[in-house]
Amino acid sequence: MQTIDVLKLENFRLYKKIETRFDPGINIILGDNAQGKTSLIEAIYTLCLTKSHKSPTDYNLIRQEASFSRIYARGHRDKKPITLELILSKEGKKARYNKIESKRLSDYVGIMKAVMFAPEDLNLIKGSPSERRRFIDLELSQMDRHYVYHLNQYRKHLKERNEQLKRMQKQKSHDQTLLSVLTEQLSHYAKKVVQKRQEFVAALAEVANKIYVDLSKEDILKVSYEPSIEENFLQAFNARQTQDIALGTTTLGPHRDDCGFYFESMPVKNIASQGQIRTIALALKMAVIELLNKHHDITPIILLDDVFSELDSKRQQSILSMLDNKAQIFITTTSLNHLNLETLNSYQIIHIKSGTIEGVDTHESSHL
Ligand SMILES: Nc1ncnc2c1ncn2[C@@H]1O[C@H](COP(=O)(O)OP(=O)(O)O)[C@@H](O)[C@H]1O
Ligand SMILES: [Mg+2]
Repeated sequence: MQTIDVLKLENFRLYKKIETRFDPGINIILGDNAQGKTSLIEAIYTLCLTKSHKSPTDYNLIRQEASFSRIYARGHRDKKPITLELILSKEGKKARYNKIESKRLSDYVGIMKAVMFAPEDLNLIKGSPSERRRFIDLELSQMDRHYVYHLNQYRKHLKERNEQLKRMQKQKSHDQTLLSVLTEQLSHYAKKVVQKRQEFVAALAEVANKIYVDLSKEDILKVSYEPSIEENFLQAFNARQTQDIALGTTTLGPHRDDCGFYFESMPVKNIASQGQIRTIALALKMAVIELLNKHHDITPIILLDDVFSELDSKRQQSILSMLDNKAQIFITTTSLNHLNLETLNSYQIIHIKSGTIEGVDTHESSHL
């Protein structure tokens, strides 16, 4: 079990400086729109993964007019006290685990694991391939340290190869040998990234389908990784070389891959109803929790941004029973009306207004 007991934020989104305590069980973040509910749990997610689930760049996370952002937490993991700290600034980011700065972010990501359920999850099915790649990369990064390293190396070499392609496009360079070296290095990391993604999606597909069928009692969901290069990476890159020089960019590789969702052989996004898309998104995130449970023996911190109160009580129950008191849970909502609070043993309500914590109510079940 992992918990965050105390959270301190400085210059994160709209927050100037706050400190708050959390319940080891269920925390309900209550407030009107645009008061800072999402930002609070986004901070927890970012602290665990070093990246936001929402914003592809860190820049938006730093409070306007501030030059850095700091997220600090004291918590527990497997009953041992731990501290985590993440500092974002224009110079980059710094992470500290138990007060010691991590040399590489890949050593830090995933020390505490978190799964976010958010309205943006619908984009996993309806949005562009980049959103599906982002999801896969974030989940894999908290499951596999080596993946973070390989992905970063891939990106670095992709950037270098693209720079050389641009120079060759503009006839500023004719260095074919340099391009060949860069292409060889790129294929090495491309292969590693694609292999890991394929393994992850295959495992996810199996579990997500089980959960989806269970929730919907109907269609069978197929999820498949769709790589732009499947094997012989070097050959594939080389075959595209003329075109890549003409365009000044690498047109194949993991940065162009996608992930597809199907009912039978029909792409889900062409036929599914809004309700089915919601259920698929839910099943995917629940599947991630199950994979973390199964392969990493840990239940992540669960962050539910606005989505929980929208679920019917059967789906609310199905998430809670899956977690079975083994996870710390954060639920943001504008109203308590649609939460089945009477089924909960104990919980805490945190009232948020304009980036400040107005008050905290603790509830213990009377029938305990
Ligand atoms: N970097 C930032 N600096 C200052 N304010 C921000 C920043 N990012 C977002 N905000 C503000 O925070 C508010 C949104 O907070 P949010 O957590 O999404 O609210 P809620 O989830 O309660 O609707 C908005 O008013 C937005 O303008
Ligand atoms: Mg919100």
